[in-house]
Amino acid sequence: MVSVAPLAGDHFRAALLSIGLLTGDDRKPAPCVRVCKRGDMAQVAWVIGGGSGIGAAVAQRLADAGWQVAISGRRAEKLDQVAAGRPAIHPYPLDVTDGAAIAATIAQIASDLGRLDLTIFGAAAWQPMEVADYDFGRFSTIVDTNLMGVVRLATPLVAQLERQGGGQFAVISSVAGYLGLPRSAAYSACKAALINLCETMRTELLPKNIIVRMIAPGFVKSELTDKNDFPMPFLMEADEAARHIVDGLTRSTRFEIAFPWQMVWLMKTLRFLPYPLFFAVTRRMLPKESSR
Ligand SMILES: NC(=O)c1ccc[n+]([C@@H]2O[C@H](COP(=O)([O-])OP(=O)(O)OC[C@H]3O[C@@H](n4cnc5c(N)ncnc54)[C@H](OP(=O)(O)O)[C@@H]3O)[C@@H](O)[C@H]2O)c1
Repeated sequence: MVSVAPLAGDHFRAALLSIGLLTGDDRKPAPCVRVCKRGDMAQVAWVIGGGSGIGAAVAQRLADAGWQVAISGRRAEKLDQVAAGRPAIHPYPLDVTDGAAIAATIAQIASDLGRLDLTIFGAAAWQPMEVADYDFGRFSTIVDTNLMGVVRLATPLVAQLERQGGGQFAVISSVAGYLGLPRSAAYSACKAALINLCETMRTELLPKNIIVRMIAPGFVKSELTDKNDFPMPFLMEADEAARHIVDGLTRSTRFEIAFPWQMVWLMKTLRFLPYPLFFAVTRRMLPKESSR
């Protein structure tokens, strides 16, 4: 008679081995995380989406802390405004839907500033959108910017980081990516995909000494949230968000930088509710006329 328990044990052990929770003799330990330091030389950051809102505040905070900061976005005049009076901030206009332009900008920054210690992807498009309104063009613009922008960036950026021996790659997702929110289909779906993608990249890139970080802000005042016509609990200023981000990126190597804690706690609790309860709550987020 076959005993089930040892078989189940073997399968469980194989599953743990396959996901790396158990190590066989042939497995090497994971390499230590090392954040690149350059002695007395200023470190170099690149903030994509640095012409406004959170990205602009992060760029200014890093520059004030002694970093050289490249900033990108489509509107050159917004980049120039952020750089005005700050010689450590350098505008590089860029549209993240253009893969060739991304590769050229990486090469240009590396040539001008020497290397890329920290790259932050914060470009995003956002529009409220309901099921009856899943216009293909508008939906795909959001996906093409928020998600595919990171995909286009990843290959040439990783090549540059490998050439220079490592670096950090941070992606601004959102607490909206923790769950599917009503009226936020394209945006929430992209932010969820970004969290998933960052998890994959964190594991894959660690052996190359590339540290992937995922940033999940709650509501922050910006051009993006100016479009919102619904209540935004725990809304914070861009400067306050930038403080959380820069502190998280420079004082730790942790994967997830999420804030404010009240919003993070609320969204994660909602995520782990059983679905009937989950939908009872999200239904209340619908505009009054459509929740009946
Ligand atoms: N505000 C919030 O409550 C909140 C919450 C969670 C997460 N976030 C995330 O934080 C990041 C920054 O958002 P924000 O709130 O500071 O809004 P924002 O001021 O509108 O910033 C978005 C930036 O993305 C740039 N951008 C848009 N499309 C682009 C493209 N195709 N190529 C290059 N750049 C592009 C915009 O510049 P151009 O228009 O000049 O290109 C803009 O500077 C976004 O990823 C957003 O999803 C925001």
